[in-house]
Amino acid sequence: MCGIVGILGTKPVALDLVDALRRLEYRGYDSAGIATIEGGLLQRRRAEGKLRNLSDRLSTEPLAGLVGIGHTRWATHGKPTERNAHPHMTEKVSVVHNGIIENFRELKEELTRAGAVFASDTDTEVVAHLITHEMKKGADPIAATKAALARLKGAFALAIIFAGHDNLMIGAREGSPLAIGHGDGEMFLGSDAIALAPFTSQITYLDEGDWVVLTRGSLDIRDRQGRRVDRPMITSQASGFLVDKGNHRHFMLKEIHEQPEVISHTLTNYIDMSEGRVNFPDIGLELAKITRVTISACGTAYYAGLVAKYWIEKYARVPVEIDVASELRYREAPLPEGGLAVFVSQSGETADTLATLRYCKANGQRIASVVNVRTSTIARESHAVLPTLAGPEIGVASTKAFTCQLSTLACLALALARAKGQISDDKERELVRALTEVPRHISSLLRDERRYEELAHYLSKARDVLYLGRGISYPIALEGALKLKEISYIHAEGYAAGELKHGPIALIDENVPVVVVAPEDELFDKTVSNMQEVHARGGQIILVSNVEPDATGCSVVAHLRMPAVHPFVVPLIYAIPMQLMAYHTATFMGTDVDQPRNLAKSVTVE
Ligand code: AGP
Repeated sequence: MCGIVGILGTKPVALDLVDALRRLEYRGYDSAGIATIEGGLLQRRRAEGKLRNLSDRLSTEPLAGLVGIGHTRWATHGKPTERNAHPHMTEKVSVVHNGIIENFRELKEELTRAGAVFASDTDTEVVAHLITHEMKKGADPIAATKAALARLKGAFALAIIFAGHDNLMIGAREGSPLAIGHGDGEMFLGSDAIALAPFTSQITYLDEGDWVVLTRGSLDIRDRQGRRVDRPMITSQASGFLVDKGNHRHFMLKEIHEQPEVISHTLTNYIDMSEGRVNFPDIGLELAKITRVTISACGTAYYAGLVAKYWIEKYARVPVEIDVASELRYREAPLPEGGLAVFVSQSGETADTLATLRYCKANGQRIASVVNVRTSTIARESHAVLPTLAGPEIGVASTKAFTCQLSTLACLALALARAKGQISDDKERELVRALTEVPRHISSLLRDERRYEELAHYLSKARDVLYLGRGISYPIALEGALKLKEISYIHAEGYAAGELKHGPIALIDENVPVVVVAPEDELFDKTVSNMQEVHARGGQIILVSNVEPDATGCSVVAHLRMPAVHPFVVPLIYAIPMQLMAYHTATFMGTDVDQPRNLAKSVTVE
């Protein structure tokens, strides 16, 4: 994951910038750099690899200057070389960036036609040239930045400084977090409070769409319409340890809100963003020769695997056998010669998943694991590790790890589909583009949680809740039920909507909320029929859909309006309302959201 820092200081900033970047190393990176303003001019030092290479560079070529920005880069657009390392700059502007700018290719072409000369393959450099372009038309730095921000599409965080302005720094947040640090006559910017802990514990977190104009003595926060807004200043506890709740009440809520950023980082680990195609690592098996995939996991990780089954069978036309690990390991399932077995696990320590991995390995399978902890036992015992870049997940209820698992598995499915000749280059680009739009859609969904707070009052009274979904929405219905039951302790069940008449419909009456996961896809009409069966028996419908309730002929208790998205990415987008419904209901009920009763973050016993 990338890390951003910025210092508007009263003493030389270069070494403090590196110190702040050192506290972001936990995010993972492959190059780093800083820029300062010396004598009114922008100066820069960058280095591939670890921060010590940058420190070495600075010891031989030091940088002066009382204002500067710094960055640790996880390569997204372009290889992890020095020329692609941040900060990126023109003679007027220097910028560091965390996230994805979806429309960078179009902007780059436009700016090149206008005479801009690009020195890197990155999307970030477009921001420096776009602001410069506006300044060359006569805009001052603030107006130029405002104009440029209005043209950027994607999920990102930015820190920007300007030649000749050594009492000015601008930050912007759209999908990736950005914190302001309040110093004594100094101001700071950072990806999180951890980076700023050496300088201050007085932190203001920007909201989605905010941008801030900083001088040493002032901050001026604007929303995406340019209106002045106030955001609270809090005292961060981050100095003591590497992970804190930020400005959120629970780790779970913080991790829900980190999803645009960590999905961006996970996706860019498996996608060549410049080419718009999957760039999947070698897993030691020729993908084209795989005749069957076995997937096994537990809990939420199992539901991620279940989504992957739908993707792999639909796009790669490869049959998938999937089962929860506690069952697969004991049923002595026959396994194909030279087959691929995929294990999904946030912790990488789940006992049943590990035992099943060992069973499959002992039976000649190539083992690939999708894990969030690279040093875990499951990772160490796998032939190939497919990391999720979710960062530490503290809340027992898995949220960002789940959507990062989906991001990784989606890319596996596309890599398999391409290797098997089942999708064209154009189809692959279409599906990859749908994936790169996910962070922005999730960022939009996370802007308004009021409807979930209202719904929580209603759901908290329920004794039983049913979640229904068809096709690729069925695993999301299962995940929604698990989220609700594990943190609110309300009994909830996920069901394939088509199964309603085979039993669960007996449960339906006016006391039973029924969550219907119904994106407008090829199964929508059939799901609507199930909704009508529920409605006819007095069931209380909560519709999760991009389609208005009127179109279903049913009255609903609530409509969680969703964006119209490509069917391929429905699971990633529709996971968000599942998480928020559970979170706000449990919070309203006062349960221990981060450590629910009877549960552990990692089940290392059978
Ligand atoms: C999910 O919210 C639960 N915490 C639980 O189901 C979890 O997904 C399961 O225990 C698997 O854990 P793992 O991903 O660490 O293997």
